[in-house]
Amino acid sequence: MKIFLDTADTNELREAAASGLVDGVTTNPSLIAKTGRKLDEVVAEIVKIIDGPISVETISLDAEGMIAEGKKFSAVHPNIVVKCPLTTEGLKATKALTSAGHKVNVTLCFSPLQALLAAKAGATYVSPFVGRLDDIGMDGMQLIRDIVQIYRTYDFKTEVLAASLRHPQHVLESLKAGAHVGTLPLSVYKMLVKHPLTDSGLAQFLADWKKVPTA
Ligand code: E4P
Repeated sequence: MKIFLDTADTNELREAAASGLVDGVTTNPSLIAKTGRKLDEVVAEIVKIIDGPISVETISLDAEGMIAEGKKFSAVHPNIVVKCPLTTEGLKATKALTSAGHKVNVTLCFSPLQALLAAKAGATYVSPFVGRLDDIGMDGMQLIRDIVQIYRTYDFKTEVLAASLRHPQHVLESLKAGAHVGTLPLSVYKMLVKHPLTDSGLAQFLADWKKVPTA
């Protein structure tokens, strides 16, 4: 499973990118707004930090507007993936953009049937939002399992990008379900490496090493 960082904060991205383990980035209008910066400025910086797919979301409601925005985003850098919402207009835009060779991440997916339509529209990625389904008392992870199973059964090439992952258990379950990508906030990414037995084991090794004669 590829690991994307779910942020538009370039300081966070630099911190995570230093590990060399981040495969891509997802942004959305809320994440861009949090930076207090202009979209084009942020995107121009992100493409220099991460050499991998970088999702940038359209804000038009009609297909024509999304297509125009998408073409503009794609022209900035070959790694840009246009994010379109899972609406009728978003699917029209996805079909048009992917047919013209652009990469599209269909976002705000909350049902397997929506994911079917995204795949049929030729989406490069579909983004099911796990945490937001959990927030309303539903089983977000079941959505990932269902989409992976459907895509495998019908051999759809669209990749399942598990989004709205809120804690390491979401990441583990996405892995077990066979999601192609998981997009993580920096806080969750940093938790993946942590284990108390690693810390105590290392402390013990270093303490014991002090007892080893050096001369
Ligand atoms: C994914 O592309 C979205 O930006 C993101 O995962 C949404 O996460 P949230 O539900 O925590 O806002």
